[in-house]
Amino acid sequence: MKTRLILSLMLAVVWAAACGQPGQRGKQAAGNDVPVFLDDSKSIEERVEDVLARMTVEEKVAILHAQSKFSSAGVPRLGIPELWTSDGPHGIRPEVLWDKWSQAGWTSDSCTAFPALTALAASWDPELSKLYGQSIGQEARYRKKDVLLGPGVNICRTPLNGRSFEYMGEDPFLSSTMVVPYVQGVQSNGVAACVKHYALNNQETNRFVTNVKVDERTLYEIYLPAFKAAVQKGGAWAIMGSYNLYNDQWCCQNEYTLNGILKGEWGFDGVVISDWGGAHDTELCVKNGLDLEFGTVTNNPAAASNAYSNYYLADPFLEGVKSGEFDMKALDDKARRVLRLFFRTVMDRNRPYGSFVSPEHIAAARKIGAESIVLLKNDGGVLPLKDEGKILVVGENAVKMMTVGGGSSSLKVKKEYSPLEGIKERFTNAEIVYERGYVGDTDGKFDGVSTGQDLLDNRSSAQLIADAVTAAKDVDCVIFIGGLNKSLFQDAEGEDRKSYDLPYGQDDVIEALCAVAKKMVVVIISGNAVAMPWVDKVPAIVQDWYLGSEAGHSLADVLSGDVNPSGKLPFTIGKQLSDYPASTEAQYPGIPRPEPSKMGVQDVTILDEEYSEGIYVGYRWFDHASIAPEFAFGHGLSYTTFEIGDPKVSGSIEKGLTFSIPVKNTGEVAGSEVVQLYVSAGDSAVERAPKELKGFSKVYLEPGKTATVKITIDKDAISYFDAGKHVWVAEKGDYSALIGTASDVLPKTVEFKY
Ligand code: BGC
Repeated sequence: MKTRLILSLMLAVVWAAACGQPGQRGKQAAGNDVPVFLDDSKSIEERVEDVLARMTVEEKVAILHAQSKFSSAGVPRLGIPELWTSDGPHGIRPEVLWDKWSQAGWTSDSCTAFPALTALAASWDPELSKLYGQSIGQEARYRKKDVLLGPGVNICRTPLNGRSFEYMGEDPFLSSTMVVPYVQGVQSNGVAACVKHYALNNQETNRFVTNVKVDERTLYEIYLPAFKAAVQKGGAWAIMGSYNLYNDQWCCQNEYTLNGILKGEWGFDGVVISDWGGAHDTELCVKNGLDLEFGTVTNNPAAASNAYSNYYLADPFLEGVKSGEFDMKALDDKARRVLRLFFRTVMDRNRPYGSFVSPEHIAAARKIGAESIVLLKNDGGVLPLKDEGKILVVGENAVKMMTVGGGSSSLKVKKEYSPLEGIKERFTNAEIVYERGYVGDTDGKFDGVSTGQDLLDNRSSAQLIADAVTAAKDVDCVIFIGGLNKSLFQDAEGEDRKSYDLPYGQDDVIEALCAVAKKMVVVIISGNAVAMPWVDKVPAIVQDWYLGSEAGHSLADVLSGDVNPSGKLPFTIGKQLSDYPASTEAQYPGIPRPEPSKMGVQDVTILDEEYSEGIYVGYRWFDHASIAPEFAFGHGLSYTTFEIGDPKVSGSIEKGLTFSIPVKNTGEVAGSEVVQLYVSAGDSAVERAPKELKGFSKVYLEPGKTATVKITIDKDAISYFDAGKHVWVAEKGDYSALIGTASDVLPKTVEFKY
């Protein structure tokens, strides 16, 4: 009773404010009715129009820019709450101070860290993507966040990219398929997914000043599809403009990508949010499609006193509207979009309350992690390991917490299980010993969050290797766990890797161990491909990822065979860096311009970068240039074996051509296989990649069982983008569907015509 009374009073106050404010233009609610914008039974569009009509110009501008590091203002007079954003994309970032990156010091913000998005992509399982999105959305909601800054879907163009681990690999079809359920899952909580970084943000080095030049066909075929899928199929409510430039305009204020493609061609009705500090000019932001500006600082010199009012979409915009420089239409369009976001999130009274670090979330993290681990090599059936004898674990990544670091995706976790902990917990009959092997990054701190681990070790490299080798002589199996580690230059925001090689002399450690170990397993934890010069000497190699809270459990699940590995590479692992397409300076990291340019009030040197390899990215390049990779895109072994039978085909390209593909588990243990379908075009008016992934399906099978997997393709699967006519073209002609279990294991070919 009492609560209802209070609610009615609150409503009355809001109502009075909504109707009675002097100096407003627009409508008044009739009689005693609830104002339209507070009426849940009305459509969002009606509510948006109603509230827009009640707002002053100042109020409209106030919702278009940040008021703190991660929040923007609501409309207090009308009872519209603030909007809170948070990184993203692997867990909910710990609270920072209102206007500083330093920690707010909360003790209630230690989250579940989910596996990095590369791992999610490596699961090749859209159902897991949905589980991921739902779970992280619940965590966001519980922490009262309205916009999750993720997922990231920039294409992995170079294995040096510092942020590959936050993205979904090198293939547009794989990333498009995986991003959609993530977005839907997050948004089912009344939390917006903010898909990032739109567009062409394929490197960290010089990320603020790289001007990408890419031909139109490549843009549409390779770099945009995942964003388009997130918007059109996933229904994303927000998108984040990237820091870099495209065709001489920064991507947060880029007429072509924002107004032309995103809002024009794709009909995006959501909010374009700037990357933090990605806006540089009021007029261009206003005219070219930015809706909501966030920043790290502001570039405006007047910012010293009142930073947020001096954002490009704050006072400078307000003054421009008042002076007539900018018209109300532009302001209303942005306000309308932001209000729509309010009604979809913070004003949705029916959204669930969310949950935080629940057993379900931990279980989801563990499952996604285990399903994503890729068994690259397993000669002689070294894996799975038996729980017996003596096992030596070597390597810093076996003990180092990986959830802290990497940049804005850094987290503070409730508990992170390291690989060594996971192995010790699982292999209770075996004797487990540990040696460090090498010392990499002992810092363990990011933005004031510390792992609290003391990883200092003063032994020389030679001594560390000698100690590991001595220990290795006395054991039945050696598991080396290394890779990269999310410290600067080793898979982190802000800087790319400087080398394709493993850092900290790890190759020497592996080589030395190989010489003495009876059985050797190498586990690489990374978000990128690394060189493996020892590949022929190591019988078992596992590609692991930054797996978050349950990292150790997921890895132990796979090493022990409790979970049969079924992950597949979301990118190609080349033998050496020069095998990758972007190999000239003009292609990467770009050529500096002789004259400085203005970025806001700063003088900066822009670098021009030509994506002259065109559509030949990832396996498309390796195929085209006939370069044998170390491990191909889509590769991943299992502890069982599968046989792909002869596909049956029904339907037509116009209505949907369905391939029914029998898959049999021919081995001894249950497991999952990912059936992959690539399309290869015959004669074409344009150059085509030798093959392109256009369908896949993951299937779980008990030993001896067969299932029929169905993959349907349509005109999209055979189309190329005709840049001259600016349309997708499905050419009449001959095509082949290449079907198998990896991009280099495609035993079945089905010819078809269109
Ligand atoms: C990153 C974004 C992130 C934002 C807020 C930027 O530096 O590029 O991905 O969401 O900071 O932390």
